[in-house]
Amino acid sequence: MVWTIELCIARQKAGSERHYQTYQIEIDPDEYVLDAVEKAWAFYDRSLTFRHACHHSTCGACGMLVNGVEKLTCITPIRSVVQDKGRLLIEPLRNFPILSDLVVDTSSMFNNLNKVSFNQVASLPAACLPYESEQPEHAHPEYERLVDCIECGMCISACPISLTSSDYIGPAVLAAAQHESIQSLSPRILEVVDNKNGVWRCHSAYECSAVCPSGVEPGWRIMKMRQAVIAHRIKSFFSSD
Ligand code: SF4
Ligand code: FES
Repeated sequence: MVWTIELCIARQKAGSERHYQTYQIEIDPDEYVLDAVEKAWAFYDRSLTFRHACHHSTCGACGMLVNGVEKLTCITPIRSVVQDKGRLLIEPLRNFPILSDLVVDTSSMFNNLNKVSFNQVASLPAACLPYESEQPEHAHPEYERLVDCIECGMCISACPISLTSSDYIGPAVLAAAQHESIQSLSPRILEVVDNKNGVWRCHSAYECSAVCPSGVEPGWRIMKMRQAVIAHRIKSFFSSD
């Protein structure tokens, strides 16, 4: 089966205004949005810039706005977002500087992840063993779940606070901080999260959790992080002279 869709893509090079270009794409509805973008690049315009690597929801590179909603385009079927002869709108993620077309600069997120010492590469024994029986005894369910963050930045794109405040550290980083604090809350992480641009800035919209493709639940983790900070303050108050 082949559908014909109108693919409308946001185009913007550094320093220029955004405009939209439309491409007629023939595509099997069981293919994915990223396939449609690749067809536009391959058959119409080699200057179209976008990011991808793994094509199976692991690298986090292909996050885009699809009809205004954050999606990993490599796992979003065409039939789930458009109909035959319909129009599909593709734009870059929000709340990051645009480098070119659909490519945004996520370096602020990675810099902030480094501040909370988030181990972006999971150690093999803890996260990659295929069978439960091979999991090491110390493997903690919280840990295994959190390493699923693929650093796609879609939670930051969806966050209404990140939209209005560029200093807000953002849901991906606060979720990572909560992960790093499961055993104990270090002074280094406290310094990053316990301030007006950290854990207290969140307004509990939970848009981050709604778009996260890896089940990290950043919104829930921010609330857990708040509890840990409050518990730390109470403990410090009663243990001070
Ligand atoms: S928490 Fe989820 S949405 Fe945010 S960067 Fe990680 S995988 Fe992406
Ligand atoms: S291309 Fe790697 S997550 Fe989509």
